[in-house]
Amino acid sequence: MLNFTLPSGLILFDMNKVGVFTSGGDAPGMNACIRAVVRTAIYKGLEVFGIERGFNGMIHNRIGQLNSHSVSNIIQRGGTVLKTARSEEFRTKEGREMACRHLKARGIEALVAIGGNGTYAGAKIFYEEFGIPTIGVPGTIDNDLFGTDYTIGFDTAINTAMQAIDKIRDTADSHDRMFFVEVMGRDSGYIAMDVGIGGGAEAILIPEIHTDAMHIVELIRNGWGRQKSSQLFIVAEGDDAGGVDAVVKNILEYVPEMNYRITVLGHIQRGGSPTARDRVLASRLGEAAINALLDGKISQAVGLVNNQIEFVSFEDAINKIKPIDDSLIKLAEILST
Ligand code: F6P
Repeated sequence: MLNFTLPSGLILFDMNKVGVFTSGGDAPGMNACIRAVVRTAIYKGLEVFGIERGFNGMIHNRIGQLNSHSVSNIIQRGGTVLKTARSEEFRTKEGREMACRHLKARGIEALVAIGGNGTYAGAKIFYEEFGIPTIGVPGTIDNDLFGTDYTIGFDTAINTAMQAIDKIRDTADSHDRMFFVEVMGRDSGYIAMDVGIGGGAEAILIPEIHTDAMHIVELIRNGWGRQKSSQLFIVAEGDDAGGVDAVVKNILEYVPEMNYRITVLGHIQRGGSPTARDRVLASRLGEAAINALLDGKISQAVGLVNNQIEFVSFEDAINKIKPIDDSLIKLAEILST
């Protein structure tokens, strides 16, 4: 049994078994985070258990002990070796009771949950009902979580999308064509914004800003007026106009003569070997999550703010919106003129 004692003599938290899982959409760098959680836990004298397929694995007792070797050779791999799921069963009280029973049977006293908003919401209610302390680690390509400047997987996703867009530019230019490229981002435009600025887009359409079809039409006509050979528009899948197909349909009413193609980058953005930045972020956050549990933190998410480890309550992480920086929106507008 491991006791952590403050200089004052106060015992903070008594824990010797911790579980780790990934949940929601996978993100490159999740494996690097699992590795950091496992190795930090072992370093601190804890036993650590991997839970497969997120909350589903707790319900169906897919839990196994991990050692340092279990996480060898995974830091460079995309996806998640623990697999992931969005669990419908965990939304029910019976499902959560079953999950708790299986954790208790193994003596697991605390959890590290790597995922997004839905993962945090599940962990929060689980603590409220059954008192299992959990630290959340932000793992989603969308970068839309309050309490951290960056989420694990975002950097890899934008670089993957950028590479695709550079290739699209070659063919767009050769055919004097317009391209409308849809990137991921169900509720937020973080991916679209960075990819659009980095890819030199004419316009970036994101859920946070109302899309005005007439404005896009104006940009297209201006481009033609300036003999632009190709034009690139980036559309976040969750754009308020309804995604790339709906956007193009609206625009075509005014410029039916345009020569265009649509590309939906889709799940390509979720895969691949994580960038160095994502691996380091994931490693730092994974270590911090274990330290936080040992410090007695509960129901909080770890994040990186101004390059420092910070914590935010699940309540805030779930309910507060991380707004897109206004200066980026302005920059995109200036650079596309
Ligand atoms: O949350 C990450 C994300 O990639 C979103 O950008 C996207 O809308 C969603 O997951 C897709 O989910 P699924 O893989 O279940 O289709």
